[in-house]
Amino acid sequence: MSGDAPLSEAHGPLDDALEAALGSLPRDTATIQAIEDASQVPTYAKYPVALVHGEGAWVEDADGKRYLDLYGGHAVALTGHCHPRVVAALRAQAGRLLFYSNMVYSDVRALAVERLTGLAPEGLRSVFLCSSGAEANEAALKLVRKHTGRMRVVSMQESFHGRTLGALGATGIPSYRDPAYPIPTQHEYVPYGDTDALASALSDDVAAVMLEPIPSMGGIRVAPEAYFREMRRLCDEHGVLLIFDEVQTGFGRTGRMFFGEHVGVTPDLITAAKGVASGVPAGVVFVREDLAKQVQVGEQGTTFGGGPLASAAIAATSAVIVDEDLPANAERVGGAMRTALEALAGVESTAGLGLLVGINLDRPAKPVVRGLVAAGVLAGGCGGNPNQIRILAPLTLTEDEALGWIPKLAALLQATEVSS
Ligand SMILES: Cc1ncc(COP(=O)(O)O)c(C=O)c1O
Repeated sequence: MSGDAPLSEAHGPLDDALEAALGSLPRDTATIQAIEDASQVPTYAKYPVALVHGEGAWVEDADGKRYLDLYGGHAVALTGHCHPRVVAALRAQAGRLLFYSNMVYSDVRALAVERLTGLAPEGLRSVFLCSSGAEANEAALKLVRKHTGRMRVVSMQESFHGRTLGALGATGIPSYRDPAYPIPTQHEYVPYGDTDALASALSDDVAAVMLEPIPSMGGIRVAPEAYFREMRRLCDEHGVLLIFDEVQTGFGRTGRMFFGEHVGVTPDLITAAKGVASGVPAGVVFVREDLAKQVQVGEQGTTFGGGPLASAAIAATSAVIVDEDLPANAERVGGAMRTALEALAGVESTAGLGLLVGINLDRPAKPVVRGLVAAGVLAGGCGGNPNQIRILAPLTLTEDEALGWIPKLAALLQATEVSS
């Protein structure tokens, strides 16, 4: 999709069908914003944008304005917005069986599980299906504590693992851990990339090390291969399980299906969510097979995990990732984008792998991100590094799309004062 034709034209019949089913929808950004702001508990600091259509890397708002979505629907639109194969699978499954839980077997869940385990690193071919990243991390934390009989968990300073209480325990960004919340104890946080600090924190009473192999919210950067190899060795030495939180990095975003391939390290568990079902809520824990065999019925479970709609979306997403070789595209297109960005005045460096790109500016990123939104480009800021713009684009991004917006960034950087 070139980014020229209004999506509202192509999607007109869908708008009509939706209104026939639901009644009339609020029509313009101001009305939509007013209703949501009046009635929704605040969550994120929203962009002043109300999206109604999406296709590939493009989205369109209620007023007909188009945006290049380099934020990837919050790192979720791995296969692009409304990939035809994912949409076709969802439409068909929605008319067949909307839901039944894990109390019964399901053909489409069986297919999803088969495809997922086909993508998993060798040895991690058992899966627990749930509905979000936080839920996947909760399940992983329970499993490692139960299996080892140890309570202590070591994670990284400035890490993010979700907003439920167990996942918050492992989250190293202090601002999320409000004293009002009864967060489980026995968590310790060490600086990412610091082998000595990790070695000092590990002992024979630690259940697990949990980390985002590439931190995102805390500031995108990548520790050297030797760090991960030593981490694996230290974990093995102390009988500590290793959990990679690949909620953002998984399923090809970094240029490999999972991060461990970059450094020759296989963790004991991988948690994933975000793009695994292209936007239908879904989370996955990949579990070492011998550990999975020890899980008893009743220890893990969730009503919605692996439901038929989510499973149809997972099965279709997995097939698209493989058939379109999206990890290779992410590596190629992300590399081209970074080379072009590094030539810009105002960009000090770039960081990340594939299409998880941090753009380190010589000034605060927030006004630049706001300027990009106004100019029709959605990108993310970064809690842990105020000078970083985060790119979490669909892995279907073309090279033209990856490069086409850069003149807009250059113009904004020229127009914005360097702040000391
Ligand atoms: C690395 C990481 N882990 C966990 C989560 C939590 O995922 P969810 O919002 O689906 O609960 C996120 C969300 O941004 C994340 O980036």
